[in-house]
Amino acid sequence: MATRHFLDLSDAGGDAIAAMIGDAIDRKAARRIWPKGQSDADAPLAGRVLAMIFEKSSTRTRVSFDMAMRQLGGSALILDAGTSQLGRGETIADTARVLSRMADAIMIRTDDHAKIEEMARHATVPVINGLTDRSHPCQIVADLLTVIEHGKPLPGLEVAWLGDGNNVLHSVLEAAALMKFNVRVGVPEGYDPEPQFVELARAAGSRVTITRDAEEAAAAADVVVTDTWVSMGQAHAEEKLAAMEPYRVDGALMARAKGDAIFLHCLPAHVGDEVSEDVFEGPQSVVFDEAENRIHAQKSVLLWCFGLLG
Ligand code: CP
Ligand code: NVA
Repeated sequence: MATRHFLDLSDAGGDAIAAMIGDAIDRKAARRIWPKGQSDADAPLAGRVLAMIFEKSSTRTRVSFDMAMRQLGGSALILDAGTSQLGRGETIADTARVLSRMADAIMIRTDDHAKIEEMARHATVPVINGLTDRSHPCQIVADLLTVIEHGKPLPGLEVAWLGDGNNVLHSVLEAAALMKFNVRVGVPEGYDPEPQFVELARAAGSRVTITRDAEEAAAAADVVVTDTWVSMGQAHAEEKLAAMEPYRVDGALMARAKGDAIFLHCLPAHVGDEVSEDVFEGPQSVVFDEAENRIHAQKSVLLWCFGLLG
């Protein structure tokens, strides 16, 4: 079997993603009342070590992958840019070859997507994208799991994205292509998602609407999603924040969606900016289910990478 890298959702494909979600649901149910650090009964990754590289900050990705490895019977270690030789200029290629000799898989969070492609080219163990400036596929596996858990089948789902056309939206659009749902993007001019992701979803038959009208984007949606207006590594531009104002998910905007719509946010949130406090703390918000699901989803991603799923 060729080494399974998970740089984007398309590396796995729709069938494998469905298998990942199914396995996550089963494993989550089987350990509902267990201590979080106890390994699953089958400990499928016993003896395996995941090396995690962080060139950007993280709470959820860092903890969820660590806990995922523990629950699968393995373990994880962390290298951060500031204290590893990567931060002093050692090449990605050499880092990939060294870590492939010392660990069983690599998870990397970085800026330029080309860096994880370079890592995958030189690694002989699976490489997982823990977020780049271009995409955040691991987050979206957790989001899809959350949507399904809340009783919403993916095919034909109407997803509204409000705010910045960023890395997380790119992975939402890729998921739309693979899992056959539709996306309405309410985004100010100048902050559209990259056209390649819109075209990918449309080519697969998904309806993707890009609108400057936030209410049109939210209308009759099953799921309303937003993210920070300023992603890691981006300048904190007043001009951008001003352009984003009409796209804040507040009670009025949420009222445009279906009555049983859920609200998602990958976190960290800036309550008062991209989402109002009443929505963030309100009954339609499932953001902490979504955060917990990072663990369950990451376990599935890891099992797929090791050829044990899909
Ligand atoms: N959502 C997410 O990836 O969170 P972290 O930046 O905390 O990892
Ligand atoms: N778009 C955000 C996601 C954080 C998890 C960022 O890249 O900073």
